[in-house]
Amino acid sequence: MDPLLQAALDARQHAHAPFSGFRVGAAVETADGRIFTGCNIENATYSLTLCAERVALAKALSEGCRRFRRIAVAAATKVLTPPCGSCRQILWEFCPDAELILVNLEGATETLFVRDLLPRPFDATFL
Ligand code: THU
Repeated sequence: MDPLLQAALDARQHAHAPFSGFRVGAAVETADGRIFTGCNIENATYSLTLCAERVALAKALSEGCRRFRRIAVAAATKVLTPPCGSCRQILWEFCPDAELILVNLEGATETLFVRDLLPRPFDATFL
């Protein structure tokens, strides 16, 4: 299996999802080929929950990475799980040209592009 997809599936195992039971893993691949992973981390206040995609991206950003090639998102759904609206906004800001690969536990995949998930985005060009 593609190492990026395997990394997202492996990261899913670390999900802290006691409230929803919905475990998500993510992995981002930098322009120089490094992989950073994340999982969802829920909180008893619910609204402080961190999504897997943003955890993975924050780990990469905080290590100085700014250019990304691909992002993989892993969840255990038959209809492959896409990033939520908040994650789409954050992904757009940092990696609009990245490929987004959705994967499930059976290894089914779908490849999209970040830019196609957020039509007419608000971003720094308006500021
Ligand atoms: N979740 C993610 O981690 N990524 C997504 O793009 C969709 C939702 C998490 C947040 C929460 O912990 C659980 O899935 C249910 O919404």
